[in-house]
Amino acid sequence: MNTRPIHPLQSRKCTALSGRIAVPGDKSISHRALMFGASAVGETVISGLLEAEDIINTARAMAALGAGVERGDDGTWRVRGLGTGGLRSPAGPIDFGNSGTGSRLAAGLIATTPFSARFTGDASLTKRPMGRIITPLEKMGARFEAAGGGRMPFTLYGARDAVPIVYETPVPSAQVKSAVLLAGLNAPGRTTVIERQATRDHTEHMLAAFGAEITVEANGSGRAITVTGERELAATPIAVPGDPSSAAFALVAALITEDSEVVIADMLLNPTRTGLVQTLIEMGADIAISNRRQTGGEEVGDVTVRSSLLKGVTVPAERAPSMIDEYPVLAVAAAFAEGTTRMQGLAELRVKESDRLAAVAAGLEVNGAVVATGEDWLEVTGRPASGLGGGLVATHLDHRIAMAFLVMGLAAGVPVTVDDASMIATSFPAFPGLMGGLGAVMEVPA
Ligand code: S3P
Repeated sequence: MNTRPIHPLQSRKCTALSGRIAVPGDKSISHRALMFGASAVGETVISGLLEAEDIINTARAMAALGAGVERGDDGTWRVRGLGTGGLRSPAGPIDFGNSGTGSRLAAGLIATTPFSARFTGDASLTKRPMGRIITPLEKMGARFEAAGGGRMPFTLYGARDAVPIVYETPVPSAQVKSAVLLAGLNAPGRTTVIERQATRDHTEHMLAAFGAEITVEANGSGRAITVTGERELAATPIAVPGDPSSAAFALVAALITEDSEVVIADMLLNPTRTGLVQTLIEMGADIAISNRRQTGGEEVGDVTVRSSLLKGVTVPAERAPSMIDEYPVLAVAAAFAEGTTRMQGLAELRVKESDRLAAVAAGLEVNGAVVATGEDWLEVTGRPASGLGGGLVATHLDHRIAMAFLVMGLAAGVPVTVDDASMIATSFPAFPGLMGGLGAVMEVPA
Protein backbone atom coordinates (compact mmCIF):
# COMPACT_ATOMS: atom_id res chain seq x y z
CA MET A 1 0.00 0.00 0.00
CA ASN A 2 1.26 3.45 -0.87
CA THR A 3 0.37 5.60 2.11
CA ARG A 4 3.04 8.27 1.70
CA PRO A 5 1.88 11.90 1.58
CA ILE A 6 1.78 13.43 -1.90
CA HIS A 7 4.39 16.08 -2.36
CA PRO A 8 4.22 18.43 -5.39
CA LEU A 9 7.43 20.12 -6.45
CA GLN A 10 8.32 22.84 -8.94
CA SER A 11 11.59 23.66 -10.65
CA ARG A 12 12.47 26.90 -12.39
CA LYS A 13 14.93 28.24 -14.87
CA CYS A 14 18.50 28.54 -13.70
CA THR A 15 21.89 29.00 -15.29
CA ALA A 16 25.37 27.82 -14.55
CA LEU A 17 24.89 24.53 -12.76
CA SER A 18 28.34 23.77 -11.49
CA GLY A 19 30.18 21.45 -9.18
CA ARG A 20 31.36 17.90 -8.68
CA ILE A 21 28.98 15.27 -7.39
CA ALA A 22 29.01 11.55 -6.78
CA VAL A 23 25.62 9.98 -7.41
CA PRO A 24 24.45 7.23 -5.05
CA GLY A 25 25.11 3.54 -5.62
CA ASP A 26 23.70 1.72 -8.61
CA LYS A 27 20.23 0.36 -7.92
CA SER A 28 20.59 -2.83 -9.97
CA ILE A 29 23.90 -3.73 -8.34
CA SER A 30 22.60 -2.85 -4.86
CA HIS A 31 19.62 -5.24 -5.13
CA ARG A 32 21.86 -8.01 -6.35
CA ALA A 33 24.54 -7.47 -3.70
CA LEU A 34 21.94 -7.99 -0.95
CA MET A 35 20.33 -10.99 -2.61
CA PHE A 36 23.53 -12.79 -3.58
CA GLY A 37 24.96 -12.02 -0.14
CA ALA A 38 21.87 -13.62 1.43
CA SER A 39 22.42 -16.77 -0.65
CA ALA A 40 26.17 -17.06 -0.13
CA VAL A 41 28.19 -18.75 2.59
CA GLY A 42 29.84 -16.20 4.87
CA GLU A 43 29.53 -12.46 5.32
CA THR A 44 29.27 -10.10 2.35
CA VAL A 45 30.37 -6.55 3.12
CA ILE A 46 28.81 -3.96 0.80
CA SER A 47 30.10 -0.41 0.51
CA GLY A 48 28.25 2.31 -1.36
CA LEU A 49 24.92 0.48 -1.21
CA LEU A 50 22.09 2.66 -2.49
CA GLU A 51 20.05 3.69 0.54
CA ALA A 52 16.71 4.26 -1.13
CA GLU A 53 13.29 2.72 -0.50
CA ASP A 54 13.49 0.03 -3.20
CA ILE A 55 16.74 -1.26 -1.79
CA ILE A 56 15.66 -1.01 1.86
CA ASN A 57 12.68 -3.19 0.90
CA THR A 58 15.05 -5.76 -0.59
CA ALA A 59 17.21 -5.64 2.56
CA ARG A 60 14.09 -6.27 4.66
CA ALA A 61 13.02 -9.07 2.34
CA MET A 62 16.37 -10.83 2.75
CA ALA A 63 16.12 -10.44 6.54
CA ALA A 64 12.56 -11.84 6.41
CA LEU A 65 14.00 -14.86 4.56
CA GLY A 66 16.47 -15.48 7.37
CA ALA A 67 19.66 -13.68 6.26
CA GLY A 68 21.48 -11.42 8.72
CA VAL A 69 21.35 -7.89 7.33
CA GLU A 70 22.95 -5.00 9.22
CA ARG A 71 24.03 -1.46 8.47
CA GLY A 72 27.21 -0.31 10.20
CA ASP A 73 27.71 3.22 11.50
CA ASP A 74 30.18 3.81 8.67
CA GLY A 75 27.46 3.16 6.07
CA THR A 76 28.69 -0.31 5.04
CA TRP A 77 26.16 -3.11 5.00
CA ARG A 78 26.88 -6.67 6.14
CA VAL A 79 24.88 -9.63 4.93
CA ARG A 80 25.32 -13.03 6.59
CA GLY A 81 24.21 -15.52 4.00
CA LEU A 82 22.49 -18.87 4.40
CA GLY A 83 24.07 -20.78 1.52
CA THR A 84 22.41 -22.21 -1.57
CA GLY A 85 18.87 -23.37 -0.74
CA GLY A 86 19.24 -22.03 2.81
CA LEU A 87 16.63 -19.24 2.72
CA ARG A 88 13.78 -19.80 5.17
CA SER A 89 10.04 -19.38 5.02
CA PRO A 90 9.10 -15.77 5.93
CA ALA A 91 6.78 -15.17 8.89
CA GLY A 92 4.46 -12.88 6.91
CA PRO A 93 3.93 -11.23 3.51
CA ILE A 94 6.93 -9.48 1.98
CA ASP A 95 6.29 -5.92 0.77
CA PHE A 96 8.45 -4.91 -2.20
CA GLY A 97 7.02 -1.40 -2.38
CA ASN A 98 7.55 0.07 -5.86
CA SER A 99 10.26 -2.32 -7.01
CA GLY A 100 9.95 -4.59 -10.03
CA THR A 101 13.59 -5.62 -9.70
CA GLY A 102 13.31 -6.47 -5.98
CA SER A 103 10.17 -8.55 -6.42
CA ARG A 104 11.09 -10.33 -9.65
CA LEU A 105 14.62 -11.27 -8.59
CA ALA A 106 13.47 -12.38 -5.14
CA ALA A 107 10.82 -14.58 -6.78
CA GLY A 108 13.62 -16.26 -8.73
CA LEU A 109 15.65 -16.75 -5.59
CA ILE A 110 12.75 -18.43 -3.76
CA ALA A 111 11.28 -20.36 -6.71
CA THR A 112 13.47 -23.42 -6.18
CA THR A 113 13.30 -23.60 -2.38
CA PRO A 114 10.39 -25.61 -0.92
CA PHE A 115 8.39 -23.02 1.02
CA SER A 116 5.76 -20.45 0.20
CA ALA A 117 5.93 -16.66 0.38
CA ARG A 118 3.38 -13.94 -0.22
CA PHE A 119 4.61 -10.95 -2.28
CA THR A 120 2.92 -7.54 -2.10
CA GLY A 121 3.69 -4.08 -3.44
CA ASP A 122 2.34 -0.60 -4.02
CA ALA A 123 -0.32 0.56 -6.50
CA SER A 124 2.28 0.81 -9.29
CA LEU A 125 3.92 -2.60 -8.70
CA THR A 126 0.60 -4.44 -8.47
CA LYS A 127 -0.21 -3.27 -12.03
CA ARG A 128 3.00 -4.57 -13.56
CA PRO A 129 3.21 -7.85 -15.51
CA MET A 130 4.53 -10.79 -13.51
CA GLY A 131 3.63 -13.43 -16.13
CA ARG A 132 7.09 -12.85 -17.59
CA ILE A 133 8.69 -14.48 -14.52
CA ILE A 134 5.80 -16.77 -13.59
CA THR A 135 6.05 -18.65 -16.93
CA PRO A 136 9.72 -19.70 -16.67
CA LEU A 137 9.66 -20.20 -12.88
CA GLU A 138 6.66 -22.54 -13.21
CA LYS A 139 8.62 -24.52 -15.80
CA MET A 140 11.25 -24.93 -13.06
CA GLY A 141 8.64 -26.39 -10.68
CA ALA A 142 7.37 -23.35 -8.76
CA ARG A 143 3.67 -22.56 -8.49
CA PHE A 144 2.03 -19.15 -8.25
CA GLU A 145 -1.37 -18.00 -7.05
CA ALA A 146 -1.48 -14.56 -8.61
CA ALA A 147 -3.99 -11.76 -8.91
CA GLY A 148 -5.86 -11.42 -12.24
CA GLY A 149 -3.67 -11.54 -15.34
CA GLY A 150 -0.54 -12.68 -13.49
CA ARG A 151 0.02 -9.68 -11.23
CA MET A 152 1.02 -9.05 -7.63
CA PRO A 153 0.06 -9.68 -4.92
CA PHE A 154 0.86 -13.36 -5.39
CA THR A 155 1.76 -16.36 -3.32
CA LEU A 156 4.76 -18.27 -4.59
CA TYR A 157 5.16 -21.96 -3.74
CA GLY A 158 8.79 -22.89 -4.27
CA ALA A 159 9.60 -26.17 -6.04
CA ARG A 160 10.34 -29.30 -4.02
CA ASP A 161 11.99 -30.93 -6.99
CA ALA A 162 13.42 -28.09 -9.02
CA VAL A 163 13.95 -28.58 -12.74
CA PRO A 164 16.74 -26.82 -14.67
CA ILE A 165 15.58 -25.28 -17.95
CA VAL A 166 16.79 -23.69 -21.16
CA TYR A 167 14.77 -20.53 -21.55
CA GLU A 168 14.72 -17.94 -24.30
CA THR A 169 13.35 -14.69 -22.89
CA PRO A 170 10.47 -13.34 -25.01
CA VAL A 171 11.19 -9.75 -23.90
CA PRO A 172 14.57 -8.05 -23.46
CA SER A 173 14.61 -8.02 -19.66
CA ALA A 174 17.49 -8.33 -17.23
CA GLN A 175 14.93 -8.95 -14.52
CA VAL A 176 13.54 -12.04 -16.26
CA LYS A 177 17.04 -13.29 -17.10
CA SER A 178 18.15 -12.80 -13.51
CA ALA A 179 15.07 -14.43 -11.98
CA VAL A 180 15.69 -17.61 -14.01
CA LEU A 181 19.43 -17.66 -13.26
CA LEU A 182 18.80 -17.17 -9.53
CA ALA A 183 16.26 -20.02 -9.57
CA GLY A 184 18.90 -22.08 -11.36
CA LEU A 185 21.29 -21.69 -8.42
CA ASN A 186 19.24 -24.19 -6.41
CA ALA A 187 18.20 -26.47 -9.28
CA PRO A 188 20.20 -29.59 -10.17
CA GLY A 189 22.31 -29.34 -13.33
CA ARG A 190 22.54 -26.47 -15.76
CA THR A 191 20.04 -23.67 -16.31
CA THR A 192 20.44 -21.58 -19.47
CA VAL A 193 18.91 -18.25 -20.40
CA ILE A 194 19.10 -17.12 -24.01
CA GLU A 195 18.46 -13.46 -24.71
CA ARG A 196 18.11 -12.11 -28.23
CA GLN A 197 19.28 -8.65 -27.19
CA ALA A 198 21.92 -8.25 -24.51
CA THR A 199 20.51 -6.65 -21.36
CA ARG A 200 22.35 -5.35 -18.32
CA ASP A 201 24.74 -8.05 -17.16
CA HIS A 202 25.28 -7.33 -13.46
CA THR A 203 23.87 -10.71 -12.44
CA GLU A 204 26.43 -12.49 -14.59
CA HIS A 205 29.33 -10.33 -13.32
CA MET A 206 28.35 -10.64 -9.71
CA LEU A 207 27.59 -14.38 -9.78
CA ALA A 208 31.09 -14.90 -11.16
CA ALA A 209 32.50 -12.73 -8.36
CA PHE A 210 30.66 -14.91 -5.81
CA GLY A 211 32.30 -17.99 -7.35
CA ALA A 212 29.28 -19.39 -9.19
CA GLU A 213 29.84 -21.74 -12.10
CA ILE A 214 28.61 -19.48 -14.89
CA THR A 215 29.37 -19.17 -18.59
CA VAL A 216 28.35 -16.46 -21.04
CA GLU A 217 28.43 -17.07 -24.79
CA ALA A 218 27.65 -14.69 -27.63
CA ASN A 219 24.45 -15.69 -29.42
CA GLY A 220 23.78 -13.48 -32.46
CA SER A 221 23.20 -9.99 -31.06
CA GLY A 222 22.37 -11.55 -27.72
CA ARG A 223 23.85 -13.99 -25.26
CA ALA A 224 23.39 -17.45 -23.78
CA ILE A 225 24.11 -17.60 -20.07
CA THR A 226 24.41 -20.87 -18.21
CA VAL A 227 24.64 -21.41 -14.48
CA THR A 228 25.32 -24.73 -12.78
CA GLY A 229 23.09 -25.24 -9.77
CA GLU A 230 23.51 -26.72 -6.29
CA ARG A 231 26.92 -25.14 -5.81
CA GLU A 232 27.76 -22.77 -2.96
CA LEU A 233 28.40 -19.08 -3.50
CA ALA A 234 31.20 -17.60 -1.39
CA ALA A 235 30.70 -14.20 0.25
CA THR A 236 32.71 -11.47 -1.40
CA PRO A 237 33.06 -7.73 -0.75
CA ILE A 238 31.07 -5.51 -3.12
CA ALA A 239 31.80 -1.82 -3.81
CA VAL A 240 28.75 -0.39 -5.55
CA PRO A 241 29.57 2.20 -8.27
CA GLY A 242 27.51 5.35 -8.92
CA ASP A 243 24.22 4.75 -10.71
CA PRO A 244 24.24 5.99 -14.34
CA SER A 245 20.44 6.03 -14.32
CA SER A 246 20.52 8.57 -11.47
CA ALA A 247 23.48 10.46 -12.96
CA ALA A 248 21.40 10.86 -16.14
CA PHE A 249 19.32 13.60 -14.53
CA ALA A 250 22.30 15.73 -13.55
CA LEU A 251 23.89 15.07 -16.92
CA VAL A 252 20.91 16.29 -18.94
CA ALA A 253 20.34 19.20 -16.53
CA ALA A 254 23.90 20.43 -17.15
CA LEU A 255 23.52 20.05 -20.92
CA ILE A 256 20.31 22.07 -21.24
CA THR A 257 21.02 24.89 -18.75
CA GLU A 258 23.33 27.67 -19.93
CA ASP A 259 26.94 28.04 -18.76
CA SER A 260 26.99 24.79 -16.82
CA GLU A 261 29.85 22.45 -16.04
CA VAL A 262 29.28 19.45 -13.81
CA VAL A 263 31.50 16.50 -12.96
CA ILE A 264 29.88 13.23 -11.97
CA ALA A 265 32.48 11.12 -10.18
CA ASP A 266 32.66 7.31 -10.00
CA MET A 267 29.86 6.58 -12.45
CA LEU A 268 29.31 3.01 -13.63
CA LEU A 269 30.38 2.70 -17.28
CA ASN A 270 29.27 -0.86 -17.98
CA PRO A 271 28.46 -0.84 -21.73
CA THR A 272 25.05 -2.42 -21.08
CA ARG A 273 24.16 0.83 -19.27
CA THR A 274 25.74 3.64 -21.31
CA GLY A 275 23.28 4.03 -24.18
CA LEU A 276 22.25 7.49 -22.95
CA VAL A 277 25.81 8.83 -22.92
CA GLN A 278 26.35 7.46 -26.44
CA THR A 279 23.10 9.05 -27.66
CA LEU A 280 23.78 12.43 -26.07
CA ILE A 281 27.25 12.50 -27.65
CA GLU A 282 25.64 11.78 -31.03
CA MET A 283 23.32 14.74 -30.33
CA GLY A 284 26.36 16.97 -29.92
CA ALA A 285 26.73 16.90 -26.14
CA ASP A 286 30.03 18.00 -24.66
CA ILE A 287 30.72 14.97 -22.45
CA ALA A 288 34.20 13.79 -21.52
CA ILE A 289 35.06 10.68 -19.55
CA SER A 290 38.25 10.52 -17.52
CA ASN A 291 39.85 8.38 -14.86
CA ARG A 292 38.41 5.14 -16.25
CA ARG A 293 39.15 2.27 -13.88
CA GLN A 294 37.88 -1.11 -12.71
CA THR A 295 36.27 -1.61 -9.35
CA GLY A 296 34.62 -4.82 -8.20
CA GLY A 297 34.48 -6.20 -11.72
CA GLU A 298 32.79 -3.10 -13.19
CA GLU A 299 34.27 -0.17 -15.11
CA VAL A 300 33.74 3.29 -13.59
CA GLY A 301 34.92 6.78 -14.49
CA ASP A 302 34.39 10.50 -13.95
CA VAL A 303 32.05 12.20 -16.41
CA THR A 304 32.42 15.91 -17.17
CA VAL A 305 29.49 17.55 -18.90
CA ARG A 306 29.08 21.12 -20.18
CA SER A 307 26.09 23.04 -21.60
CA SER A 308 25.63 22.10 -25.24
CA LEU A 309 23.45 22.89 -28.23
CA LEU A 310 21.88 19.54 -28.99
CA LYS A 311 20.51 18.33 -32.30
CA GLY A 312 17.88 15.66 -32.90
CA VAL A 313 18.94 12.10 -33.79
CA THR A 314 17.35 8.73 -34.43
CA VAL A 315 18.00 6.35 -31.54
CA PRO A 316 18.05 2.77 -32.87
CA ALA A 317 15.76 0.17 -31.31
CA GLU A 318 18.75 -2.12 -30.57
CA ARG A 319 20.09 0.47 -28.14
CA ALA A 320 16.98 0.44 -25.96
CA PRO A 321 18.12 -2.16 -23.39
CA SER A 322 21.26 -0.15 -22.61
CA MET A 323 19.27 3.00 -21.77
CA ILE A 324 15.81 1.70 -20.96
CA ASP A 325 15.43 3.78 -17.79
CA GLU A 326 16.83 6.92 -19.43
CA TYR A 327 14.19 7.63 -22.10
CA PRO A 328 12.17 10.03 -19.93
CA VAL A 329 15.15 12.32 -19.42
CA LEU A 330 16.38 11.84 -23.01
CA ALA A 331 12.93 12.95 -24.21
CA VAL A 332 13.33 16.07 -22.06
CA ALA A 333 16.75 16.77 -23.62
CA ALA A 334 15.17 16.29 -27.07
CA ALA A 335 12.58 18.99 -26.30
CA PHE A 336 15.47 21.50 -26.16
CA ALA A 337 17.34 20.14 -29.20
CA GLU A 338 17.30 21.48 -32.72
CA GLY A 339 15.25 19.17 -34.93
CA THR A 340 13.52 15.90 -34.22
CA THR A 341 14.65 13.00 -32.05
CA ARG A 342 13.10 9.65 -32.87
CA MET A 343 13.24 6.92 -30.23
CA GLN A 344 12.13 3.45 -31.25
CA GLY A 345 11.89 -0.05 -29.82
CA LEU A 346 10.22 1.30 -26.67
CA ALA A 347 7.59 -1.39 -26.00
CA GLU A 348 9.10 -2.13 -22.58
CA LEU A 349 8.55 1.49 -21.50
CA ARG A 350 4.85 0.71 -21.31
CA VAL A 351 5.36 -1.71 -18.38
CA LYS A 352 7.74 0.22 -16.14
CA GLU A 353 6.76 1.94 -12.86
CA SER A 354 4.17 3.68 -15.07
CA ASP A 355 3.36 3.53 -18.78
CA ARG A 356 6.40 5.73 -19.33
CA LEU A 357 5.78 6.30 -23.01
CA ALA A 358 2.35 7.77 -22.28
CA ALA A 359 3.52 9.64 -19.17
CA VAL A 360 6.48 11.24 -20.99
CA ALA A 361 4.38 12.24 -23.98
CA ALA A 362 1.68 13.75 -21.75
CA GLY A 363 4.24 15.59 -19.60
CA LEU A 364 5.98 17.04 -22.65
CA GLU A 365 2.72 18.09 -24.28
CA VAL A 366 1.45 19.87 -21.21
CA ASN A 367 4.77 21.76 -21.19
CA GLY A 368 4.46 22.92 -24.78
CA ALA A 369 6.75 20.40 -26.49
CA VAL A 370 6.05 18.91 -29.91
CA VAL A 371 5.51 15.17 -29.49
CA ALA A 372 4.29 12.23 -31.56
CA THR A 373 3.95 8.62 -30.33
CA GLY A 374 3.12 5.16 -31.58
CA GLU A 375 2.79 1.83 -29.78
CA ASP A 376 6.56 1.55 -29.33
CA TRP A 377 8.07 4.83 -30.49
CA LEU A 378 8.31 8.44 -29.44
CA GLU A 379 9.27 11.47 -31.47
CA VAL A 380 10.11 14.82 -29.92
CA THR A 381 10.81 17.98 -31.90
CA GLY A 382 12.76 20.63 -30.07
CA ARG A 383 11.83 24.27 -29.76
CA PRO A 384 13.29 27.33 -28.04
CA ALA A 385 13.31 27.04 -24.25
CA SER A 386 11.24 30.20 -23.94
CA GLY A 387 8.25 28.29 -25.36
CA LEU A 388 8.54 25.39 -22.93
CA GLY A 389 7.24 24.83 -19.40
CA GLY A 390 4.21 25.96 -17.45
CA GLY A 391 2.63 22.52 -17.14
CA LEU A 392 1.62 20.28 -14.26
CA VAL A 393 3.00 16.78 -14.85
CA ALA A 394 1.18 13.63 -13.71
CA THR A 395 3.89 11.31 -12.37
CA HIS A 396 1.81 8.12 -11.83
CA LEU A 397 3.93 6.89 -8.87
CA ASP A 398 6.99 6.96 -11.14
CA HIS A 399 10.23 8.40 -9.72
CA ARG A 400 11.86 8.82 -13.11
CA ILE A 401 8.94 10.80 -14.54
CA ALA A 402 9.17 13.14 -11.53
CA MET A 403 12.94 13.68 -11.87
CA ALA A 404 12.91 14.04 -15.67
CA PHE A 405 10.34 16.84 -15.57
CA LEU A 406 12.01 18.61 -12.66
CA VAL A 407 15.09 18.70 -14.90
CA MET A 408 12.96 20.16 -17.70
CA GLY A 409 11.90 23.05 -15.47
CA LEU A 410 15.55 24.04 -14.88
CA ALA A 411 15.87 25.16 -18.51
CA ALA A 412 12.29 25.91 -19.61
CA GLY A 413 11.11 29.50 -19.93
CA VAL A 414 8.30 28.90 -17.44
CA PRO A 415 8.52 26.68 -14.30
CA VAL A 416 7.50 23.02 -14.46
CA THR A 417 5.51 21.40 -11.65
CA VAL A 418 5.29 17.67 -10.88
CA ASP A 419 2.21 16.49 -9.00
CA ASP A 420 4.17 14.20 -6.68
CA ALA A 421 7.90 14.12 -6.03
CA SER A 422 7.66 11.71 -3.09
CA MET A 423 8.42 8.65 -5.27
CA ILE A 424 11.93 10.00 -5.90
CA ALA A 425 12.74 8.40 -2.54
CA THR A 426 12.42 4.95 -4.13
CA SER A 427 15.66 5.37 -6.09
CA PHE A 428 17.37 8.71 -5.46
CA PRO A 429 16.43 10.41 -2.17
CA ALA A 430 19.47 12.71 -2.50
CA PHE A 431 18.24 14.10 -5.85
CA PRO A 432 16.80 17.44 -4.63
CA GLY A 433 19.80 18.07 -2.34
CA LEU A 434 22.44 17.15 -4.93
CA MET A 435 20.76 19.22 -7.64
CA GLY A 436 20.36 22.12 -5.22
CA GLY A 437 24.09 21.91 -4.46
CA LEU A 438 24.78 22.39 -8.20
CA GLY A 439 22.58 25.51 -8.23
CA ALA A 440 19.19 24.11 -9.24
CA VAL A 441 16.06 25.68 -7.81
CA MET A 442 13.29 23.29 -6.82
CA GLU A 443 10.60 24.31 -4.35
CA VAL A 444 7.13 23.45 -3.16
CA PRO A 445 4.73 25.34 -5.46
CA ALA A 446 2.71 28.17 -3.96
C1 S3P B 1 16.71 -3.75 -13.99
C2 S3P B 1 16.35 -4.05 -15.27
C3 S3P B 1 15.49 -3.19 -16.10
C4 S3P B 1 15.37 -1.78 -15.54
C5 S3P B 1 15.18 -1.77 -14.07
C6 S3P B 1 16.33 -2.48 -13.37
C7 S3P B 1 17.54 -4.71 -13.24
O1 S3P B 1 14.20 -3.75 -16.14
O2 S3P B 1 14.30 -1.08 -16.17
O3 S3P B 1 15.11 -0.44 -13.58
O4 S3P B 1 18.14 -4.33 -12.23
O5 S3P B 1 17.63 -5.87 -13.67
P1 S3P B 1 13.85 -4.93 -17.19
O6 S3P B 1 14.86 -5.94 -17.02
O7 S3P B 1 12.49 -5.44 -16.86
O8 S3P B 1 13.88 -4.24 -18.51
